Amino acid sequence: MGTRVTKAVIPAAGLGTRFLPATKATPKEMLPVVDKPAIQYVVEEAARAGLTDVLVVTGRNKASLEDHFDRAYELEDKLEGDEGKREMLDRVRDSTDLASMHFVRQHDPRGLGHAVACAAPHVGREPFAVMLGDDLIDERDDLLPQMIDVQAQRGGCVLALMEVPPEQISLYGCASVEATDEDDVVRVSGLVEKPAMDEAPSNLALIGRYVLSPEIFDALAETPPGRGGEIQVTDAIARLTDPSVAGGPVHGVIFRGRRYDTGDKADYLRSIVQIAADRVDLGPEFRAWLAEFVAARLPLGDPDQPLKP
Ligand code: G1P
Repeated sequence: MGTRVTKAVIPAAGLGTRFLPATKATPKEMLPVVDKPAIQYVVEEAARAGLTDVLVVTGRNKASLEDHFDRAYELEDKLEGDEGKREMLDRVRDSTDLASMHFVRQHDPRGLGHAVACAAPHVGREPFAVMLGDDLIDERDDLLPQMIDVQAQRGGCVLALMEVPPEQISLYGCASVEATDEDDVVRVSGLVEKPAMDEAPSNLALIGRYVLSPEIFDALAETPPGRGGEIQVTDAIARLTDPSVAGGPVHGVIFRGRRYDTGDKADYLRSIVQIAADRVDLGPEFRAWLAEFVAARLPLGDPDQPLKP
């Protein structure tokens, strides 16, 4: 049913204020997670899901984003001339061969919904994916391919949902849902952006992966600023849950895999540790060091205090 999804949109226009001064001259999407910028994980995930076209919606400091996904001739030339640097050369080239990369600038920072609306001319009238760079999905877990399949079968929009502890729901968009005949696929009947814990309709949070129908652009055009005075993509998708509005139905896929949040400093550090510990090349040595480090620093308290014998 319908057109197969081939395009991904990655909003990357935020100011990254939580990571200042690191983000003074660098977009936060370029901050390294082990040895790759965060956004490369997202583009790799898009490529694994079979998407061939990626549009990055940028803000200021977009030059390094464009450069990262472009060829680096001088560097490649240098590495090519040295037999021992073959592997490094492959790693430099990896980021350029993932997908056809495009960039558009969001001139006014008017919110995530506004960033998505900036993708309209590039996307055209076909379903597409939106992938937020703060959320990384482990490469062993297939979330986006499953969402694309659900969209192909049921049409409309498909959102990634994850159960979170009630006290965390106010950090996320939250969905009201009804069961379907498929495990972990739900019908979304309503959405609210960052509700207070006692007003949240569920503990199902939006986790930064969306497959959206092109009608989202019509809904966004009619969506007034919401939470934080910003145009929210959650509010626009909520409009499409109304059966009398074109662009639905809206379904959710409940994700039970591994997700790494890089949105704030503590989460970012946790993500780096988790990803490094699972890497074949770094993991064994890093884990051994980590175990020693943790043993030496426990019990919690002043790390400079000598441990009791
Ligand atoms: C955005 C969305 C929110 C979603 C979250 C996922 O919020 O507005 O609905 O749950 O991403 O990471 P942000 O984290 O950008 O404030």
